[in-house]
Amino acid sequence: MKMYCRFKEDFQWGVATAAYQIEGACREDGKGENIWDRFCHIPGNIAGGADADIACDFYHKYKEDIKTVHELGIPCFRFSIGWARIYPEGPDKINEKGLDFYEQMIRELERYQIKPVITLYHWDMPQWLQDIGGWLNRESIRYFTEFCETMIRRFDGRVDKWITLNEPWVCAFNGYYWGDFAPGLKDFSAALKAAHHMLCAHGSVVRRFREKRYQGEIGIVLNLCPKDPASESKADKEAASIDDGFSNRWFLDPLFKGNYPEDMVSWYAGQQVVMPEICEGDMELISQPVDFLGINYYYVEFAKKCGGRWPLYFDTTTKDYPVTAYGWAIVEEGLTRLLLRLHEEYGAPRLFVTENGASFLDKVEEDGKINDDNRIDYLRRHIRACYQAAQQGVRLEGYYIWTLLDDFEWSTGYQNRFGLIHVDRDTLRRTVKKSGHWYGKVIRENGLTGEADDMF
Ligand code: FCB
Repeated sequence: MKMYCRFKEDFQWGVATAAYQIEGACREDGKGENIWDRFCHIPGNIAGGADADIACDFYHKYKEDIKTVHELGIPCFRFSIGWARIYPEGPDKINEKGLDFYEQMIRELERYQIKPVITLYHWDMPQWLQDIGGWLNRESIRYFTEFCETMIRRFDGRVDKWITLNEPWVCAFNGYYWGDFAPGLKDFSAALKAAHHMLCAHGSVVRRFREKRYQGEIGIVLNLCPKDPASESKADKEAASIDDGFSNRWFLDPLFKGNYPEDMVSWYAGQQVVMPEICEGDMELISQPVDFLGINYYYVEFAKKCGGRWPLYFDTTTKDYPVTAYGWAIVEEGLTRLLLRLHEEYGAPRLFVTENGASFLDKVEEDGKINDDNRIDYLRRHIRACYQAAQQGVRLEGYYIWTLLDDFEWSTGYQNRFGLIHVDRDTLRRTVKKSGHWYGKVIRENGLTGEADDMF
């Protein structure tokens, strides 16, 4: 199906990455240990026994990679700062060499007039902070604010957008409840507490940003998706609403309405979950206005009531939808629906899709090419879904693909390839995939208007 989609003149196209997933150089230039370094080296934690000690070696190859971003014509580059490069041993001493790396990298972006969009926390907390409780320790709010200010002060005026946190839900629940992500804890109430402190830390950074009148914009990135019932049964409908409360509203409501959702507060109380301590002023701190909301969108989940799983009692399925190599259901209309909902229920904030993409088992052809038509199809469907939301009045201002390079995908190691650029795991050689060239065309045409849509 063809559809003519031309976005607004100033629509921002970009690509998203994260420090730990690409940089490598895990012991270089004074970098300290972080929770993912620790977690990766515990046998059984990462598929294939992989680690990110070298990852894509972006730390040494950033010039080559940024040049490719430029050649593809991608105007915005989202990346994160490795906190343990800046504060390797504790909160008192800054590692200048860590700052230097980001200085050099940003200069390289400036050289090509690529806009930096910086995530301040993409999950790699320094181990020294984890040793005193990590996000369970309220002091983390203060340490995070200091770290962020160090970065913001240093690069003030050169950065278009600052993102405080990436996906606090994943960080809290995978990290502190399911335990499949660092730091690997398994305690539901602890996850809620970690999430509360993250939200406060976000608010504290926004407050500091406003007080000091730093330049640019500041916002947060949430992973959000529609939670649909797996069937029309009453039980599945209730499961979907709990899943939505647990994963979407638990973050959206405090940020945009200044309170945790009532239905979930009483659900948790009924399950003897310990609520985090909410200190005076916390909810005001959390709900300070942001300049934009970033959305990471990958799939829709279908909730099914199930018996024995305290405290939420649901499972999720993909129904009959086609799935990516990660097993995530491909449902592009879910993105349109999500964007409309945010617009209608959360006060029409300015929105950016800060991550969207798909992992597939790419095949390198004999001529060395990677013809990833399935990824192009996924991206095209989702770009159209964005367009449809924008047509209906949603203030959607940009779209970023996850991700530039085939990278370290957390506990799945290197199995999931999301990149527009293929990375050979033995040689680390880069090859731009067909999707990379295709995305360049989309950007040139500012949408799906002709050639980019004709490629299929
Ligand atoms: C998101 C993360 C990102 C990446 C993608 C696939 O949850 O923000 O780092 O791993 O998923």
